[in-house]
Amino acid sequence: MKFTHESIEKKPWLLMVLVLLVVSVGGLVEILPLFFQKSTTEAVAGLKPYSPLRLTGRDIYVREGCYNCHSQMIRPFRAETERYGHYSVAGEFVYDRPFQWGSKRTGPDLARVGGRYSDDWHRAHLNNPRDLVPESNMPAYPWLAATKLNPQDIVPKLTALKRLGDPYTDEEIKAAPEQLVGKTEQDALIAYLQGMGIQIKARR
Ligand code: HEC
Repeated sequence: MKFTHESIEKKPWLLMVLVLLVVSVGGLVEILPLFFQKSTTEAVAGLKPYSPLRLTGRDIYVREGCYNCHSQMIRPFRAETERYGHYSVAGEFVYDRPFQWGSKRTGPDLARVGGRYSDDWHRAHLNNPRDLVPESNMPAYPWLAATKLNPQDIVPKLTALKRLGDPYTDEEIKAAPEQLVGKTEQDALIAYLQGMGIQIKARR
């Protein structure tokens, strides 16, 4: 059998096997290094594992489906960096399980919203976005301010993350519930928002 291009194209099974071979080699070459490169596996300078309050806020963010309207990844294009600040890098997300990158942007990207507004701004905005941005179609979340956290909920969460490799110590886990006493779901969510993307300064 002559091994020409034409002879391969006329044998669908052979073609399929060869295509698979080429794609897997190409895939491995592209994907494998990402598991070992510092820039994709190590936290950016200053990034710490989520504090108990911020971790709780993150879970509320996920529970309320904020990701349905907000992405958390600034693409490396001028139109994005002018508006949101420095583009997102992999090392900013090493403690995100699961990450909240997303692509649906009914609202603005939130990757660098930390520090952009005051806590009071967020309180008013979460209670009723239209009080601050009259044309906003973001839902109001008034119950967050009225709902107290259950401090003990944090223990199994931190324990699970520790098992997955996040550097929480047993002492930190034991002391965690105390930090949530008397806090509301809104406090936690705002703490989460205020810590977002602040390790890399927004270029504005
Ligand atoms: C239905 C879509 C939708 C959902 C769901 C939603 N938002 Fe929004 N969000 C928007 C829109 C639109 C804006 C822009 C107008 C405004 O500021 O209200 C916005 C603005 C924001 C801003 C200000 C961002 C900036 O840079 O000015 C923050 C912070 C925010 N949202 C947080 C949240 C949080 C936290 C949740 C979940 C509890 C959430 N959003 C859920 C649509 C949404």
